[in-house]
Amino acid sequence: MRAWVNTLRLFGNAAPRAEIHVAERAAQPIAWMRVIPHGAFCVLEDLWVQPAWQGAGVGSTLFWLAQRSAHHLGAQRLEWEAEPNAIGFYKRMGARHIRDTPPNEWDRVLQVMAVDLVKEDAQGAPIAPVNDASGPSRRAAVADDG
Ligand SMILES: CC(C)(COP(=O)(O)OP(=O)(O)OC[C@H]1O[C@@H](n2cnc3c(N)ncnc32)[C@H](O)[C@@H]1OP(=O)(O)O)[C@@H](O)C(=O)NCCC(=O)NCCS
Repeated sequence: MRAWVNTLRLFGNAAPRAEIHVAERAAQPIAWMRVIPHGAFCVLEDLWVQPAWQGAGVGSTLFWLAQRSAHHLGAQRLEWEAEPNAIGFYKRMGARHIRDTPPNEWDRVLQVMAVDLVKEDAQGAPIAPVNDASGPSRRAAVADDG
């Protein structure tokens, strides 16, 4: 646990501008995500849906919001290190594998995945060229505080 805690990156005053969205139901958080600018691209640092809410469209809603957030932060690409169990989800969202991470201290290698943020939707809103699963018709009816 201590080794894991030491790997956490904590931002103080030097924090880059980030966007954080929390999905709520009955005033309780059920999912969240965080997008951090990194030059010409943004990094999706977290995308977590509580187990009871998985499979209900919440993750794809937040992923869609992550792409919009990254675009609004000026990025041309959104990328992240994908948990192995989530790779099928990200492929369903239209993401692609761009490289692998170097092995960490436990020799764990993760896929780095990405989407390009280059297209607009029918209303002219900036979204990524992902498949219909991440579009507004799949968005779950959840509140977000972003
Ligand atoms: C991965 C995760 C974010 C997906 O969120 P979710 O709310 O369950 O996903 P959705 O309900 O929006 O699913 C959207 C689509 O992806 C599919 N999908 C979801 N998880 C999937 C998976 N692990 N593998 C393949 N497809 C998946 C769904 O079947 C659905 O397909 P459909 O459009 O054909 O119906 C969520 O399961 C999660 O938080 N997992 C644990 C934390 C984690 O690993 N986060 C990723 C960190 S990199």
